[in-house]
Amino acid sequence: MAIRIAVAGKGGTGKTTFAALMIRYLIENRRGSILAVDADPNANLNEALGVTVERVIADILDATKNPRTVPQGMSKDMFIQYQLAQALVETKGFDLLTMGRPQGPGCYCYPNDLLRKHLETLSANYDYMIIDSEAGLEHISRRIIQDVGFLFVISDASVRGIRSAGRVRELVQELQLGIPKMYLVVTKITGDPGPLKEEIERTGLPVAGFVPYDEQVVTFDAHGRPLFELPSDSPIVQAVTSILNKCLI
Ligand SMILES: Nc1ncnc2c1ncn2[C@@H]1O[C@H](COP(=O)(O)OP(=O)(O)O)[C@@H](O)[C@H]1O
Ligand SMILES: [Mg+2]
Repeated sequence: MAIRIAVAGKGGTGKTTFAALMIRYLIENRRGSILAVDADPNANLNEALGVTVERVIADILDATKNPRTVPQGMSKDMFIQYQLAQALVETKGFDLLTMGRPQGPGCYCYPNDLLRKHLETLSANYDYMIIDSEAGLEHISRRIIQDVGFLFVISDASVRGIRSAGRVRELVQELQLGIPKMYLVVTKITGDPGPLKEEIERTGLPVAGFVPYDEQVVTFDAHGRPLFELPSDSPIVQAVTSILNKCLI
């Protein structure tokens, strides 16, 4: 089974950036095959990775609510499974699945069940599954993605970000998600993170490391350039590498 690593935290803190650089790290260190899952409703992992996504899971599940979309002679289950398989974007270094944002109201229990099974079957083909999630951990809390082994909670260098990270940890405990390894990563550091020390301790999360504010990332994002093209000696790539060298052993 794939080693499942989730990244979560408040919007705008740098989750997608961290997830993309982790995928880059795994590729460069030849750690094995990778399934990237963009589980943030505000999906943009594909942009950080430089790939185009045609279909997202939410649209497929929404479409299957209308029985007329199912071709004659095909069962609904088979049809959904076929569609889910089409949503996988395959690239040289990794494959990517984008969840998207469910549109319509109503119950998703049935498709979610299928999605859970699909993800289980799919992830068996990979060494790593990297999940870019939002702070509410939607897919993990609803057990669509299970057995997460590592959770990196991302915060920017603000009290609000750190408190939000603390709430992610509380959520994991309340829901008894049983994630064995959880870490805090503080990003966009511009000065001495000392004043945040107490707030960081209150989260109860061990600090995996600090990521400096790196102007180059902003420039890359502004031009829609994939983060894979950041130079290896850039401060952010160096910081993420040292965090992962330490944590992913
Ligand atoms: N270490 C960093 N230094 C400078 N800018 C960063 C850093 N990490 C992320 N950013 C910028 O912050 C913004 C939000 O990052 P993103 O990874 O999309 O956050 P999230 O996925 O948490 O919403 C982006 O414009 C990104 O370029
Ligand atoms: Mg994001």
